Order: sequence, then C-alpha cells, then structure tokens
Amino acid sequence: METLVQDDMKGESAIEDIPILQVMHLIKHFPVHGGIFLRKQGVVHAVDDVSFDVRKGQTLGLVGESGCGKTTLGRCIMGLYPLSGGSVKLHGQNITGATGKKLKSFRLRMQMIFQDPFESLNSRHTVGEILEEKYIIHNRLSNDIRGSGNSSSRRREIVKLLDRVGLSEQAITRFPHEFSGGQRQRIGIARAISLEPEVLICDEPVSALDVSVQSQILNLMLTLQKDMGLTSVFISHDLAVVRHVSDHIAVMYLGKIVEMADAGKIYDHPMHPYTKALLSAVPVADPKSTRERIILKGEVPSPLNPPEGCRFHTRCEYVMDICKHQEPRLEPSEAVILKYSSELLNSDNESLNVVKDSLDAVKDSLDIVKESLKYTGNSNSNSTHHLVACHLYHEKEVKR
Ligand SMILES: Nc1ncnc2c1ncn2[C@@H]1O[C@H](COP(=O)(O)OP(=O)(O)O)[C@@H](O)[C@H]1O
Ligand code: SF4
Ligand SMILES: [Mg+2]
Repeated sequence: METLVQDDMKGESAIEDIPILQVMHLIKHFPVHGGIFLRKQGVVHAVDDVSFDVRKGQTLGLVGESGCGKTTLGRCIMGLYPLSGGSVKLHGQNITGATGKKLKSFRLRMQMIFQDPFESLNSRHTVGEILEEKYIIHNRLSNDIRGSGNSSSRRREIVKLLDRVGLSEQAITRFPHEFSGGQRQRIGIARAISLEPEVLICDEPVSALDVSVQSQILNLMLTLQKDMGLTSVFISHDLAVVRHVSDHIAVMYLGKIVEMADAGKIYDHPMHPYTKALLSAVPVADPKSTRERIILKGEVPSPLNPPEGCRFHTRCEYVMDICKHQEPRLEPSEAVILKYSSELLNSDNESLNVVKDSLDAVKDSLDIVKESLKYTGNSNSNSTHHLVACHLYHEKEVKR
C-alpha cells in the first residue's frame, strides 16, 4: 500500500487556512432501554466532548478501534443523529438542529461515503437512476445550475461524473450487483460528489476492499479531493490507510480524542500510549526496523460505563493514581508545566543533566501545545489538554 498511493498529493491540497468544518465539544449519548417496560437502563457514551477543526482542502483522519465512536461522530457531523451536546459549524454557521430549507442546504454541501456502498445503493435501480436521483432531489438542474434540467442534460452530467470516478458510460444501464466491490465504491463516490459538496465524511470507505483495490480507491479520492478542493474527515480503524490520505490525524478511544497531530508527526513521534500501541501494530516496510509490538492489556471498557478519570487508565502501562480519578486536564499552560517542571527540578537526583532534561521536556510540551492548537484552533480542546498532561506524566515517570 505504501508505495502504491500517491504520497506527494496529500498536503498539496491545502488551499486556504480557513476552518470549513468545526466540531465543538460534540457529545452523543444513546439511552439504552430494556426489561418488559422498556425502562431506561443506561446510557452509551458513544462520543464525549470531541472538538476539532478541519481547514479548507485538508483531510482529518479519524482513527481508533471498532466501537470507539467514529461512525457515530461522522453521523452527528452530517446531522443524521441529533446531538446530546456541543455543535457543528460549517463555514462558521452553526448547523446543529437545522431543519427545513436550511438543513437541505447544509446537506447539499456535506456528503458521506460509507464502508459498504452496496447497502446504501438501491439494488433495484440502475446506476443511472441512482445518480440521477440526487440531481432530481436537490433540484439543481432545473435551477439552471447545470443546464435545462431535462433528462438528456442529466445524462451528460452523469457520463461526466462516471468518467471522473473511472467508470464508463455503459455503467448507466447496469445494476449495482453487476459491479465489483471497488467499482461499487466508485459509484458511491460518484453519488457523494455529484452535487459538488464542500465537505466529505468518509466512513471506512476502503475497509471492505482488497488491499490492491484499496490503493486505487484512495488514489481516486486524493485526486478528487485535490481537483475539487474538498475538505474531508476520513474515518478508519486502520492507521496505515489513514496515514496516506490525511493531513492531520485524531486518535479516538472510548468516545474521546486522545491525541491529535500532524500525520507525519503522529507516526514519527506518537505521544499517547494508546497511539503508540495502535502504531506498533502497523506493519513496517523496513526489515531493519526494530519497532516492538505493544500488546495492550485487558479489554476496551464498556461505553455504558466508561472508567472515571482518564478513560484509558485501565489499560495504560503508565497509569498513576491521579489518572484514575482525574481526566488529564491540562491547562497546556504554564501552570501545569511549571508544576511538573518544579517537581522534576526538586527530585532526588539534582544533577545538571536532570535539570537540562526537565527543561527539554517543558520545551517539548510547549511545542506540542503550539502544534495542537494549530489544528484544534481551540485552546479549550480536551485533546490538547490530554496530550500535554500525558506527556508530562511520562516525563516525570521516566526521570524518577
Ligand atoms: N443507535 C445506537 N444505539 C445505541 N448504541 C449505539 C448506536 N450506535 C452506536 N452505538 C454504540 O456506540 C458505540 C460507538 O459505536 P460506533 O460509532 O459505531 O463505533 P465505531 O464506528 O468506532 O466502530 C458502540 O458501543 C456502539 O455499540
Ligand atoms: S492520563 Fe494517565 S492513564 Fe491516561 S494515558 Fe496518560 S498516563 Fe496513561
Ligand atoms: Mg464504524
């Protein structure tokens, strides 16, 4: 996969430094009902206080194990689920709770690509009918945006669209079941881009495909993203896939983002122990690589009853008492940094090296804060806090 995907294309797509999509403190809880009276028995904490920005033409990769809340987050952004808290902004406009015409206009500007397009493609309709439906629903053609709105102008649009995703005109009269998995995903992509959206939410779009086909589809998506200036959220459980398409990567664990950084940086210098474990499972092409696989102990706790404090503490090899009752709060601030750096300076081994290392740790932490703030654009973001606290905890542990 590494060699097949056009690495040089990602990043070039950054057109302007404007946050097109802003997700702010998004929360989604699902009440669980049971028993003969269907009483509320609990709450699934699927997404808990997630914040990030995606800038124009950029892709945020969202990665994490199955069940950590990726699909729920994607659906919340699309307005397919009502939010339990927080908000989503498109071009600075709050789209949370939009209805009627306003919702229709947002839907026009944001589209979703699914893992299995077969499920979302109506098997009784031909590809031509499936693609035409979008034009008709949104009434674009009849508004003279692309012609007279008659069926021959729509057909011309559909032929162009098919060509754009690498399918021939003959596809128009065929049914979804007549295509391979990769071709069906091309149809799904054609449908998603047909109305020229600004934002694409891609939910595991290549997870069901063979590795060789995955690369072709990823390359297609990179090309389209570049040509159309698309802003994307690319969801996958597979860090190797996410790496090739993303400018920035957010790592999710049990409903929360635990680390967010530039794609290259997260691979070269993962900070969070969960990111390190995920990364250690990604195959490395270099036979001389000495990277060791980190096997996490225990199971992912239930989102019905997530652990207090840091949600990762039940599986973290660096866990400390504070992690069990306090979510890493980080004022990325001087306050935290000074607190830990003064502890380091006052530790038993007061050699000059310890002082120097401590100051380096503080400097690194400040760099991380600066980096994180670049993507989140939000100094209150939990992920920024988490990352820095964690980093400092580790430095503290290591130096003792
Ligand atoms: N409609 C729903 N009702 C109740 N729980 C749900 C619903 N959708 C998802 N969940 C739960 O929310 C958590 C996150 O699910 P999901 O977003 O599908 O994770 P991922 O896409 O990362 O695999 C899971 O525990 C899942 O069982
Ligand atoms: S806050 Fe504590 S338990 Fe959580 S990841 Fe950091 S060190 Fe581990
Ligand atoms: Mg999912």
